[in-house]
Amino acid sequence: MDSNIILIIKVKFYSKLIKKLSFLIILTLLSTAMAHSQSAPKLGNASINKVVGAMTLQEKAELVVGMGMKLPPNANIPDSIRKKFQGVPGADKYSLKVKGAAGWTHPMPQYNIASMVLSDGPAGVRIQPIRDKDSSQTYYATAFPVARLLACSWDTSLVENVGKAYGNEAHEYGIDIALAPAMNIHRNPLGGRNFEYYSEDPEIAGKMAAAMVRGIQSQGVGTSIKHFVANNQETNRQHINTIVSERALREIYLRGFKIAIKESQPWTVMSSYNKLNGKYTSQRHDLLTTVLRDEWGFKGFVMTDWTGGDNPIAQMKAGNDMLMPGNANQIKQIMKAVKSGKLSEKTLDRNVARILKIIRKSPSFKNYNYSNDPNLKDHAKVARQAAAQSMILLKNRNQTLPLMKTGSIAALGNASYNIFIGGRGSGSVNEAYKVQLNQGLTDAGYHLNKYLKKEYEHYIKKAKASRPKPSFFSHPAPIPEMQISADRAREEAKNNDVAIITIGRNAGEGADLKKSNFNLTDKEKNLISTVSKAFHARGKKVIVVLNISNAIDVASWRNQVDAILLAWQPGQEAGHAIADVLSGKVDPSGRLATTFPVHYSDVPSSSYFPGKPAKNPQEVTYREGIYTGYRYYDTFDVKPAYAFGYGLSYTNFSFGNLNLSSSKFNGKLKASIKVTNDGNRAGKEVVQLYLSAPAKAIDKPIKELKGFAKTKLLQPGESQTISFNITKRDLASFNPKLSSWRAEAGTYVVKIGASSRDIRKQGSFDLAKAITVEKDQPVLQPPHKINELSPAAHK
Ligand code: BGC
Repeated sequence: MDSNIILIIKVKFYSKLIKKLSFLIILTLLSTAMAHSQSAPKLGNASINKVVGAMTLQEKAELVVGMGMKLPPNANIPDSIRKKFQGVPGADKYSLKVKGAAGWTHPMPQYNIASMVLSDGPAGVRIQPIRDKDSSQTYYATAFPVARLLACSWDTSLVENVGKAYGNEAHEYGIDIALAPAMNIHRNPLGGRNFEYYSEDPEIAGKMAAAMVRGIQSQGVGTSIKHFVANNQETNRQHINTIVSERALREIYLRGFKIAIKESQPWTVMSSYNKLNGKYTSQRHDLLTTVLRDEWGFKGFVMTDWTGGDNPIAQMKAGNDMLMPGNANQIKQIMKAVKSGKLSEKTLDRNVARILKIIRKSPSFKNYNYSNDPNLKDHAKVARQAAAQSMILLKNRNQTLPLMKTGSIAALGNASYNIFIGGRGSGSVNEAYKVQLNQGLTDAGYHLNKYLKKEYEHYIKKAKASRPKPSFFSHPAPIPEMQISADRAREEAKNNDVAIITIGRNAGEGADLKKSNFNLTDKEKNLISTVSKAFHARGKKVIVVLNISNAIDVASWRNQVDAILLAWQPGQEAGHAIADVLSGKVDPSGRLATTFPVHYSDVPSSSYFPGKPAKNPQEVTYREGIYTGYRYYDTFDVKPAYAFGYGLSYTNFSFGNLNLSSSKFNGKLKASIKVTNDGNRAGKEVVQLYLSAPAKAIDKPIKELKGFAKTKLLQPGESQTISFNITKRDLASFNPKLSSWRAEAGTYVVKIGASSRDIRKQGSFDLAKAITVEKDQPVLQPPHKINELSPAAHK
């Protein structure tokens, strides 16, 4: 035979053999894999240790990294950022599960590990409302009142109730973890995300967040309290280096988180973007392990904020168990680090186990058959009630409010027809509708001037059409107020019986406000003064509704008007809720959870917010230390426009004698006080308990909020006794030299107030010997000593 022919036959023979063999090899591999998958321990049946033990390094690295997040294709986002969000191959398949959610964890069916869906927060579920252009089925969510309004309820059961509705909605839309609540401290009135946060005070922030977590988690879905920690501004938020003393951290910025962890055990915590004293929070072992887990007993897992930090290995070691939204490069880096010994596999196993523990509780793991049909009608009612019960009546000269139903209302100001129901960015919600203020008043039976309505609606439409489309992070300037000339104002005063001017302001993620935003614009000032003059000339009244995201100047114009209602951003039922309060259907029982300063320059951090260098801040030092909010204004005697805790009602309350169970502190003490409704309408009062502690070893604020409670709805003449348990923790401050929470010996004064500057009753007790209430690790210290504000130096 020709040698060529022999060669061809041989080649054919061998290639057939190779094909057969490779088929056999593939078959064997497949069946081994199947056998492995069948015999692999299953989450739920086998112990978590067993499951972790069976996982490959690649699988473990995948589990601690999210699957990415789809960014809108046309948004103006640089490639470097897109890459960080890109996720892993195949991620698309899972992100289909709940479109518009923020994150997904890796599914591993071989171990029965479900993919969890994470969605924003915190004003309600944030998902895509219409999918694949099919509007026959919609996925709208309830826009609840923003956190800063909810906090003004001073009512934890109200917040818990909102949490229940929110949690139910998340559950019915297939969400496993709500990226909420957000609970950073209002450090400066220009903070871009202050609307998402509760208060300037950690006691309020902590109690409100705990209530929200309890409410959401009662529905079987998890939460992620955020942003841990000292994320109090948006300027350069991904990299700003926050320099803050350990005492200010422990007493102000960490304290709310501690309360929330202890009182509600959230499933997860989200670390913040910023650096804290030189290191990204997500890369600080002392923060995420020593403080969060060892000192406070947190049991869940920690996730990064979206693309937060810069070193996955340091994050793994610190106890930042999951990287969100996740990308393929992080998986590679983690695997490489384990192989090279830079990251111990034990550490990775620990993080994997923490995540699996939460997955095991999740609706996805339980195969919950979600309906995609939550009861939006019921939730709207919850949103309306919560908003109305939280609004704050700042001024009510000669009982201007409640508003009579006779006559005609001139509703002025853009926001009367274009209301801000919430802020911008990840904290916004895709709601099915929003109730405008004019609509709310009409529904309540008021007669509104319809020419004004037409004119404003036309003006707003035109202004919106002519400005650039707002993007996620860009902050379009508010539509300037329509000018009302003096003649026009006189005309309106002649034709109408009362004026309502709504001042609307918004803010959002990714940017802080500017100093100038604290003041009203010239057009706003003009509107208030022109309208007030014209209406007052005819003996008619002017009411201002503040539909704002941030505290603004009120002192310079408030004398011109008769009543001011602070509505903040009230959620989708805005118009109805405002009308409920204006009409007196609901008595205003909200109280300020953040002070309104007279001038921006009165704010303790005003001269160095948002950090230096001024053009492009890289570092911000919290030189005010523990003296934030009322702790500053009251201790340094700077008179605010409206004090922390302030708010009026349509009725009057009186406080009886303050009863202290003992004049000596023996481990605990009870304070009780009787509150009586002395007016002639039903209403609720907020009782605020402040404590003044002796300041010998360290300086202290002149008083601090240690307890609060809201009465039930008291009928005229009705009373209720409110009691507080004062514990040794309430007496203690953090002494950094001793790394301890210490209650100093001496006299403590209990002050019951209607605001921090309106103390109605007080009493005192003695502590004979100092007590160390808690000993902590000396951690989180700033890189250098901060020359902090102190009352002694000030005198
Ligand atoms: C925000 C978080 C949010 C996350 C996911 C981040 O930019 O800071 O609050 O949960 O995005 O959308």
